[in-house]
Amino acid sequence: MAESWATFGVDLHVDVARPGVGPRRGLTDALREAVRGGRLAPGTRLPSSRSLAADLGIARNTVADAYADLVAEGWLTARQGSGTRVAERAVPVPASAARPARSLRGPAYDLVPGTPDLASFPRAAWLKASRRALAAAPDDALGYGDPRGRVELRTALAGYLARARGVRADPEHILICSGFVHGLMLLGAVLRQRGARTLAVESYGLDVHWDLIDRAGLASAPLPFDERGTRTDELPSTGAGQGGAVGAVLLTPAHQFPMGVPLQPDRRAAVVDWARRTGGLILEDDYDGEFRYDRQPVGALQGLDPDRVVYFGTASKSLAPGLRLGWLALPPDLAPEVIAAKGGADWSCGVLDQLTLAEFLTSGAYDRHVRASRLRYRRRRDQLVSALAARAPSVTATGIAAGFHAVLRLPPCTEQSVVRAAAWHGLAVHGLTSYRHPAATPAPLDALVVGYGTPSDRGWPRALEALCGALP
Ligand SMILES: Cc1ncc(COP(=O)(O)O)c(C=O)c1O
Repeated sequence: MAESWATFGVDLHVDVARPGVGPRRGLTDALREAVRGGRLAPGTRLPSSRSLAADLGIARNTVADAYADLVAEGWLTARQGSGTRVAERAVPVPASAARPARSLRGPAYDLVPGTPDLASFPRAAWLKASRRALAAAPDDALGYGDPRGRVELRTALAGYLARARGVRADPEHILICSGFVHGLMLLGAVLRQRGARTLAVESYGLDVHWDLIDRAGLASAPLPFDERGTRTDELPSTGAGQGGAVGAVLLTPAHQFPMGVPLQPDRRAAVVDWARRTGGLILEDDYDGEFRYDRQPVGALQGLDPDRVVYFGTASKSLAPGLRLGWLALPPDLAPEVIAAKGGADWSCGVLDQLTLAEFLTSGAYDRHVRASRLRYRRRRDQLVSALAARAPSVTATGIAAGFHAVLRLPPCTEQSVVRAAAWHGLAVHGLTSYRHPAATPAPLDALVVGYGTPSDRGWPRALEALCGALP
């Protein structure tokens, strides 16, 4: 009989299918929670990657990768002959009788990149905008409406994006979606319908995005990467839409995620030339374009050729990911297909939040919030750099001119041990390996990707202290 989950006598009820999260991340999170919450006791042996993969209906490599991530973080151990087990002291902080164990509520400090400081969400200003928006909304705003989203928001965004990001877009060609991931799903479906087979991506990025591309039936092919960023000059010159040809390229031009470099002017020109020559599309992920500290913001690539660039913006960094609000500025000849794809699939994005964001933008509250956030994150970035210089001089912070994460270059062969040490200090942080495309060619680098935006102002000094404690 095939070795099965049940033969181990453990029933984890692991649910890897979480919206917006790929199976690897879903499984890693579910297992980590099971260990942290005590459902998997220290020493418990986990099933082989083959049998767990069969039980969950996912690829064996995905399970092996999730196990490797958790070994690197110190939650599991893997030994030849004894399989993969829950680490003897996987829970970073011992439970106290007086207080609920910190570990039951997750790591004490979270420096995983991606989430802004949610404690500083502008609740009062949002509430005020929401009241005003609802009071002013016509009755028909509460109907099914237009799949592109409310015209008030599309108009406000057209003005804001032109002013703040150099985006050239008519409100007619702006589409509101549930964050970047929803926009990517829509574009994936449209590209596939148009006959594309491959989407070029950057060597470093998010596995959840690569999974979405995969689910749309497209292969993701990483472009080479060097110290000047993504080699857009290496895009193949074959025409888009032909079998196997690259139909589009997904880039983070203002601030490469997670490496932090902006796309250099010659490479911006090269990718636009490629798109014009081959009929390919550029998908521009402008996830944190508003946050640049040391010089003027790098404008959006879309301004160079609005007919070939699909611009993706999101409220996930500037406000909160829980709003699930994003927007696309579409090339006019692509817009009907993307609008039809959204109208045909779902009509997500509640109208009240759309109207509130429109009011938030037009009243100037959005600019005020972004300005205050920029100051907050810049201060933290400076504190991080000073703390590293004083406490961990062998570690260099790179990619720090923008956004709210930094790449900390570590001495060779130390990434896994530092991630493990961080877990012992109650700190959730990821190594750069988690962000490297499986088919990427650059030699792996030992580094941490530190999201310094997530802690609250009160929690940040302690999170920084824990980070310094874990560094070599
Ligand atoms: C590279 C990148 N793109 C886009 C996003 C935003 O995704 P969404 O708008 O779906 O929340 C993030 C958020 O973490 C990101 O890191």
